[in-house]
Amino acid sequence: SNKTNPTSPMSSPPQLILTQDQLKKIAAYKAVEFVESGMVLGLGTGSTAKHAIDRIGHLLSQGKLTNIIGIPTSTKTHEQASSLNIPLSDLDTHPVLDLAIDGADEVDPDMNLVKGRGGSLLREKMIEGCCKKFIVIVDETKLVDYVGGSGLALPVEVVPFCWKFTAKKLECMFEEAGCVAKLRVCCENGEAYVTDNGNYVVDLFLKKCIGDLRAAGDKMMRVVGVVEHGMFVDMATTLIVAGEFGVTVRNK
Ligand code: 5RP
Repeated sequence: SNKTNPTSPMSSPPQLILTQDQLKKIAAYKAVEFVESGMVLGLGTGSTAKHAIDRIGHLLSQGKLTNIIGIPTSTKTHEQASSLNIPLSDLDTHPVLDLAIDGADEVDPDMNLVKGRGGSLLREKMIEGCCKKFIVIVDETKLVDYVGGSGLALPVEVVPFCWKFTAKKLECMFEEAGCVAKLRVCCENGEAYVTDNGNYVVDLFLKKCIGDLRAAGDKMMRVVGVVEHGMFVDMATTLIVAGEFGVTVRNK
């Protein structure tokens, strides 16, 4: 018979497996659909945000967006955005932003975030805290059950002065969660990684959930020497996730 067997793999369409970077791009492009002409925009940092900035630059060059003002969250993003001729400003001039778009390292079920594995958490938190709307763009690998749940770093920006003392205090603070604090180093030369603000980053590795995130964040901020931590609690207003299932948009 020339009938095809419906269960045969030959009869189903080939499966499209997207790379993580393609998923990041899908989430980023979806977020840019929320950008309107005349907006003051927070421009995030990292490989996901980079796609959004490329897209904004492209739409501006085509005249499909006009009168955008970008507020970059890092020197790297500043460089990328200026190379795309996106007009730029800062928080001193524009203390209220319409929208920010940025990636994240972890997103918990309440849309709380871990950010800063790219090292820009301080400027990101300053800028994204001033936005009417903050869209977080991730691929599905960033979704976790709780903050720290990926087993990867919870970054904390600290002053270089006696950083070991500060790191030890942080490690003791989260002893019950099995915390290990490590100074971030550059893989190229093994030297301490230095942020755009001239500080160091101590990465906290947690084995368990740290419980009340606000309380934990406040405790960290009381350690003299801590500049800012990478937990973004209750800041995201919209989450865009791209995965093999497609793309979803969730509002808080
Ligand atoms: C930088 C960040 C980034 O948003 C975060 O690290 C996600 O990066 P990527 O989009 O490259 O996965 O917080 O400080």
